[in-house]
Amino acid sequence: MAVHRIAVGIVGAGPAGLLLGHLLQRAGIGSVTVEVRSEQHVIDRVRAGVLEQTTVDVLREAGVGARLASEGMRHEGLYLAFDGERHRLDLADLTAGRGITVYGQNEIVRDLVAARRAAGGQVVFDAEHVAIVDAGADRPRLRVRADGVERIYECDFIAGCDGFHGISRASMPASAVRAYERVHPFTWLGILAQAAPASPELVYCLHEDGFALFSMRSTGLTRLYLQCGPDERIEDWPDDRIWSELRARLRMHDGWEPNQGPILQKNLTGMRSFVVEPMRFGRLFLAGDAAHIVPPTGAKGLNLAVADVWRLARALDEHYGTGGTAALDAYSDAGLRRAWRAQRFSCWMTSLLHRPDGASAFDHRRQLADLDYLVHSRAAMTSLAENYVGFPLE
Ligand code: FAD
Ligand code: PHB
Repeated sequence: MAVHRIAVGIVGAGPAGLLLGHLLQRAGIGSVTVEVRSEQHVIDRVRAGVLEQTTVDVLREAGVGARLASEGMRHEGLYLAFDGERHRLDLADLTAGRGITVYGQNEIVRDLVAARRAAGGQVVFDAEHVAIVDAGADRPRLRVRADGVERIYECDFIAGCDGFHGISRASMPASAVRAYERVHPFTWLGILAQAAPASPELVYCLHEDGFALFSMRSTGLTRLYLQCGPDERIEDWPDDRIWSELRARLRMHDGWEPNQGPILQKNLTGMRSFVVEPMRFGRLFLAGDAAHIVPPTGAKGLNLAVADVWRLARALDEHYGTGGTAALDAYSDAGLRRAWRAQRFSCWMTSLLHRPDGASAFDHRRQLADLDYLVHSRAAMTSLAENYVGFPLE
């Protein structure tokens, strides 16, 4: 069996793993990234779309921001909708000029894969039997089977960037970590439709039938989400039913509603809050969804993943430059602080905007009062806005 020495073994080629490999390469630190899915699958997976300014800055400074700069859509506001009315929050005005950028996660992944290829980075797609051996050792090992050949990578460090269902977190002894979790009793049905966005900014809507979200990907693509029950099946949602429910929830008294078009993709996503503490065991570091999951209502998951790997890359750079471990030692605490802040915001946005099964008429009226207060109080709007556009990295 071939044994390779490498500085950092990275598990997972989602946004976290790809960006980490890229940042390390720029710092002159060698890495290998192993991914169980195919390159095409990873690039085609439609997920997040809202980038905080810090995420845009990190990508630009890493030299992978060219297409993001030309194709990303900067938004300086968003709408909260309820009772058939849209109310605009001026994010830029509320946060001294900050905003968000709408650019598909799969486009970021496409840009990062291209950058890794251009730089000759080692990314192994379609890997099988990925395993972390001796996670707590001085030289943890990453074992994989690729192209029918077993390989062992002997690593100084391993970065677990393999998402919520990956193997990295499970490679930490149960006694060394503690998990915190809440499963929200909804799913999101998301669609990508070939239709021009009917609004230049996102619309988050609470309706008696539940939450709906209007978003976009480009001048010709609309992205829409519907709250549905926890045990929903995609087969029960033919296109006609999706559109009629979207129209019912999103049509406003002034006649605004999303434009319709052919549905190119649809999928269901569970809603979970999860944090594992600490984000490190010995030389194994977790980053992104491997360490924490937030419900998508706050649009924070991808942004947290980028913040984690930015910090991890800097800590590793410091370590290889000076031999110091202070930044590596601070990695978990700093990541958890940011993750919990995103967690509280995402849970709050979720409870503000979703209709739980069995909610009483009282609960619904109280939710409407919450929203009414929010859109009429500059203090309340400012709190939402500063969390939504995101906090500085340090
Ligand atoms: P992932 O993207 O999950 O990548 C992990 C990778 O590891 C995958 O490619 C997986 O195939 C691979 N892998 C898994 N197991 C193994 C293994 N054993 N060995 C090797 N590889 C493995 N976030 C936002 O910030 N803004 C949004 O607007 C937003 N909207 C969202 C909407 C939806 C519908 C969903 C589902 C999520 C949304 N998110 C959003 C969250 C965001 O998509 C995730 O937080 C983000 O993908 C995390 O990136 P990651 O690299 O940590 O994990
Ligand atoms: C998206 O465009 O996919 C999106 C936007 C905002 C969210 C979640 C997802 O809160």
